[in-house]
Amino acid sequence: MNETVDNPFFARLWTVMSTREPESLRRLRRQNLAGLTGRVLEVGVGTGTNFEFYPDTVTEVVAVEPEIRLAEHAKEAAAQANVPVTVTTDTVEQFTDTRPFDAVVCSLVLCSVDDPDQVVRSLRAMLRPGGELRYLEHVAGTGARARLQKVADATVWPKLLGNCHTHRHTERTIENAGFTVSDARREWTFPKWVPLPVAEFAIGVAVRS
Ligand SMILES: C[S@@+](CC[C@H](N)C(=O)[O-])C[C@H]1O[C@@H](n2cnc3c(N)ncnc32)[C@H](O)[C@@H]1O
Repeated sequence: MNETVDNPFFARLWTVMSTREPESLRRLRRQNLAGLTGRVLEVGVGTGTNFEFYPDTVTEVVAVEPEIRLAEHAKEAAAQANVPVTVTTDTVEQFTDTRPFDAVVCSLVLCSVDDPDQVVRSLRAMLRPGGELRYLEHVAGTGARARLQKVADATVWPKLLGNCHTHRHTERTIENAGFTVSDARREWTFPKWVPLPVAEFAIGVAVRS
């Protein structure tokens, strides 16, 4: 079980990066949260970049962020949010709540947990029947990009970027956890020719049946 997340370099970097996101990514964040209602769990919220995009039909967001430097920023963002947001510094592996959630949000986080299969299964168990996992995650590519991702993952990328892994088959992980995927697509946040390992995103809605 992952009990702590302590990434001082990444926390400083992400604090800057999250204020300078391309409009293409901000648009996907908005789409990922559109139409949500009720009680929502968001996993690994970082600086709380998603908070401004929650529709007012959401009654409560429980926000998990174990990196304490990022959690401080998330608490500031929570105070400005249009919906009630509570930030907890548990890891997702530690987090428990006896009341089921209407939705769970994962954005740019399943790349960073040690065991995504286990985490997604535990998130499914925290949803009410019919509840939704909303995901927006960069994913494994093919061809030259896949080769670039594998090299990145085997060298400095996870060490510098808070355990981020670029070559993960996250859609498969979600399906294998027993979700029914009702809406799924791939999007590019940078032109395809840009040699970045994290330009292709999967966005979708997965339902706990
Ligand atoms: C790339 S950032 C993305 C932040 C945010 N989800 C967003 O969309 O901007 C990854 C986040 O996952 C968090 N994280 C990493 N491991 C985690 C874990 N085991 N449990 C919960 N959060 C975790 C990190 O602290 C970091 O805030």
